[in-house]
Amino acid sequence: MPFSISLTVNGQPNSIALDDPRVTLLDLLRERLHLTGTKKGCDRGQCGACTVLLDGRRINACLTLAASLDGSTVTTIEGLADGPELHPVQAAFIACDGLQCGYCTPGQIMSAVGLLSEGHAGDDPERVRELMSGNLCRCGAYQGITQAVLEAGH
Ligand code: FES
Repeated sequence: MPFSISLTVNGQPNSIALDDPRVTLLDLLRERLHLTGTKKGCDRGQCGACTVLLDGRRINACLTLAASLDGSTVTTIEGLADGPELHPVQAAFIACDGLQCGYCTPGQIMSAVGLLSEGHAGDDPERVRELMSGNLCRCGAYQGITQAVLEAGH
């Protein structure tokens, strides 16, 4: 039976009709709202490519059912920049070469934004690596990623 949810995405309120309670937030973002910056890697909670902020906390969108999100607020990579002005974490990833092919980068950046806003990172590279360990990079750009998170946290 069709139903609808109210979901604010990147500051934009949406009323979204759903006819399948199994639709994930990831598929909703990419296929219904055409926000394809959030990537689908494993689709089973193992790679972090789909990381977004839900009410300010980082989550895997592939593991989150859209039907459970009525009244929630989601921020995706498309919602970070302020017009032409990049978010400080985006700027730090560029400055520190925190990417190679770029596929995992939106998830890496959203994860970094989440952990920095929770005040968890500090100055310890080992702690940053641990906090970012849910985000895999097949190119192995981890050194630049860690550096970017440290720089953005200053
Ligand atoms: Fe969600 Fe890999 S696509 S964790």
